[in-house]
Amino acid sequence: MSAIIVVDALWGDSGKGKTTAHLARKHNADLTVRAGVGTNAGASVTLEDGTLVKARQLPTGWLNPGTRVAVGSGVLVDPQVLAGEIERFGLAGRAFVDGRCAVITPEHIRAEQADAHLAGLIGSTCTGNGHARADFILRRAQQARDLPELAPYVMDVAREVNTVAAAEGKTAIVEGSQGTMLSLAFSPDYPYTTSDNCTAAAAMDDVGLNWRLATDVVMVVKAMPTRVGQGPLPHEMTEAEAVARGIAEYGVVTGRARRKAESIDFALLEYAAMLNGPTQIALTFCDHYEPGMRGARDSGAITPRVRDLIRQVEEAAGAPVTFLDTGHRLGDVIDLAPVPA
Ligand code: IMP
Ligand code: MG
Repeated sequence: MSAIIVVDALWGDSGKGKTTAHLARKHNADLTVRAGVGTNAGASVTLEDGTLVKARQLPTGWLNPGTRVAVGSGVLVDPQVLAGEIERFGLAGRAFVDGRCAVITPEHIRAEQADAHLAGLIGSTCTGNGHARADFILRRAQQARDLPELAPYVMDVAREVNTVAAAEGKTAIVEGSQGTMLSLAFSPDYPYTTSDNCTAAAAMDDVGLNWRLATDVVMVVKAMPTRVGQGPLPHEMTEAEAVARGIAEYGVVTGRARRKAESIDFALLEYAAMLNGPTQIALTFCDHYEPGMRGARDSGAITPRVRDLIRQVEEAAGAPVTFLDTGHRLGDVIDLAPVPA
C-alpha cells in the first residue's frame, strides 16, 4: 500500500529516470506512471552492460521486469514518440496511456519551432508541448482516445494508479518531469519556465492520485545543478570549465549543452522543499561533485566532502538523504535506506 512520488527540486535533468528505475526494482513496483509536462523531458539510464536507454514519454520503471508503465491524463502525448518507445523497449501489453491525455501533433512542433518567443527568448525544447497545452486549455486539442492507433494502449490511468496504491503489498511510483524551479506558477523566473507546474502536488494531479494514498515524496537534488534554456542559474560555471573538468553535460532531447552550477543554491532548495514536502532526498551526480566517488556502490566510499554536502542538503530540505547516485550506470548508487530483507 504505497505511492512514491519522484520530483526534481531545481531545473531538472537530475536523474529522475534512474531514481525511478532504482525504486521500481527496490520495491518491485506494480506500476510507474509518468507525470510532468510531456515529451519535452528526457530521461537516460545506462544499464549494467553499457546499453543506453533514452526515453521521453514513458517512465523508466519498466526496467524492473514486473513493472507496468503508464502516462497520466495531465501529461501531453506525442503518438510517434510513444509508439517508438513501446517498440524499442518491447513494451506492448505493458505500457498504457490515459485516454484523456491531450495529443501533440506535428503542427504543434512546427509552430513551436517557428515561435520566436519560445524558441528564441525562452529556449524551449521546441517539442510542441507548450503549443499543445495551449490548445488543450482552449479545448480544441485531440485526446489519446480520439486516435485509433492508440486504442490498444488506452486505460483509465487515474483509476489504475489509485487501485495499485491502495492495494496491500503493492507499490505505485509517480515519475515527475522537469523541475520545481521550472514550474509555470512557482518559479521565480517566469517567463523562463515550462508550461505547467512541476511539484509533487502537480505530479499527483497529472496522474489523478488521491492525496490520501501518497506515502513518500522523493525529491531529487543534483549535487551540481544544471539548467538548459534561458533564466538565472546561481553559481554558474563556464562551459569551458565544465569541459575541462570532464563534467560537461548535453541534453537528452535537444543535445544542447547544459549550463552547469558549481554548487546548490540552498535558499532555492529550501523553497523547493517547502513546496514539495519531501520525505526523502536522492542526491544525484555525486561523481561530478566528487570525481573520486565515480561508480561507488558502498556507503564506505562516501568522502568527508560529500558527507558535508549531505548534511547541508538535509538541513535545507528538512528530509534525509536516502540515496546517492555516483555514475551513469543503473547500479552506480548507494542506497542508504535499503528494504529490510
Ligand atoms: P519547453 O517546456 O519545452 O517550452 O521549455 C521551456 C523551458 O523549460 C526551457 O528553458 C527548457 O530548456 C526547459 N525545460 C523543459 N523541459 C525540461 C526538462 O525536462 N529538463 C530540463 N529543462 C527543461
Ligand atoms: Mg499538470
